[in-house]
Amino acid sequence: MPKITIPEHGSFEVEQGQRLVNALQAHGVNLGHRCGGYARCTTCRVEFIDGEPEIISRAEQDKLKASELSGEVRLACQILVEEDMTLKPLMMVEEMGWSDPGPPPEETVTPLPDWIENSLDGA
Ligand code: FES
Repeated sequence: MPKITIPEHGSFEVEQGQRLVNALQAHGVNLGHRCGGYARCTTCRVEFIDGEPEIISRAEQDKLKASELSGEVRLACQILVEEDMTLKPLMMVEEMGWSDPGPPPEETVTPLPDWIENSLDGA
């Protein structure tokens, strides 16, 4: 099973292929997901230290580009945990003053992903 490491939180193993946003939530990491996992809000953003997936959904790439976040963060709702990852969750419920992280994301990536190679310039 792949392992997720968060430097200030610890490490935990997650089900292979689980949606990252849900894997974090299941282990007590209250990362925001205010749009419910549809690549619309960017509140599920994480900074990768290691193990960043080389593929990206077109929806994520488009959203990061439009938000001028390309190459800086990734969206946990658009990522499946296939390998070990070390990352930093950025918009935590506790820090943002939200009463909850947002509507529960579905188990599968939404919208239906069109996977492409990740490139920093979004080409
Ligand atoms: S972009 Fe909204 S939950 Fe991921």
